[in-house]
Amino acid sequence: GKVRAPTHVISTISDDRGEEPCYAGVPMSSIVEQGYGVGDVISLLWFKRSLPRYCTQFIEICIMLCADHGPCVSGAHNTIVTARAGKDLVSSLVSGLLTIGPRFGGAVDDAARYFKDAYDRSLTPYEFVEGMKKKGIRVPGIGHRIKRGDNRDKRVELLQKFARTHFPSTKYMEYAVEVETYTLSKANNLVMNVDGAIGTLFLDLLAGSGLFTKPEIDEIVEIGYLNGLFVLARSIGLIGHTFDQKRLKQPLYRHPWEDVLYTK
Ligand code: ACO
Ligand code: LMR
Repeated sequence: GKVRAPTHVISTISDDRGEEPCYAGVPMSSIVEQGYGVGDVISLLWFKRSLPRYCTQFIEICIMLCADHGPCVSGAHNTIVTARAGKDLVSSLVSGLLTIGPRFGGAVDDAARYFKDAYDRSLTPYEFVEGMKKKGIRVPGIGHRIKRGDNRDKRVELLQKFARTHFPSTKYMEYAVEVETYTLSKANNLVMNVDGAIGTLFLDLLAGSGLFTKPEIDEIVEIGYLNGLFVLARSIGLIGHTFDQKRLKQPLYRHPWEDVLYTK
């Protein structure tokens, strides 16, 4: 029989050896001819399966909504400063991407983890939030620098509206709404943020679509796929900010002395 030489790499998502590249077994010609979108490509390359239209549309909405949030947020600020230091596109992009983390844009996976755990253990919002406080952990997916109870994040409302219309179940997100009602009773800035909306709604997508087994859902949440949505989305804006600064021929940035408290 055939003797298989041991390989150094295993790969299961794409194959470029044939006449045309395949994503999770789907040839490029089908992707183009059947009018697949970015949501379908993400489904194939990240989740290794085709997902129904409402799921791919949801993925695309997440990407469009998170593509940019103005020049003042951490990521865009870093990118702008880097571009103005004369650095190239990739350097400016990654400089912005490196700010994505537990406080900014990278709380999606932890929101999914903590809200899933709390919901699955039937914790009341009070028990969940106060339990987190005792552990000294801020609730991921809650809180915003400029959004308030009386000035909600429109992106969160749009995601919720889409999911309530198209998803078979929105139980994790509705639980997060109950948690938000409790956190808002404590402070007006403790709204559900876009990371919290995406994290909990993605749980609903995974659990409600019937296309993922429980161990698969646990693995996705444990590995942490969901920050990838924010990283991918925000790259669009960060690339735009790089081009903008270059187009405007902006000089080297130096922060004004007046805006620094020099103290001992
Ligand atoms: N859970 C519990 N309490 C909170 C939370 C939270 N998520 N956020 C703020 N608080 C409370 C705390 O009591 C905090 O006091 P502390 O500093 O003693 O912990 C108090 O509110 C004031 O918080 P600030 O530091 O003034 O809030 P700030 O505006 O700086 O923080 C931030 C905003 C970073 C988003 C914060 O709410 C947070 O860490 N949230 C969790 C992480 C998260 O979801 N990040 C994603 C944000 S959306 C995005 O980036 C696209
Ligand atoms: C973002 O999408 O960048 C934000 O929600 C963060 C912010 O402070 O606006």
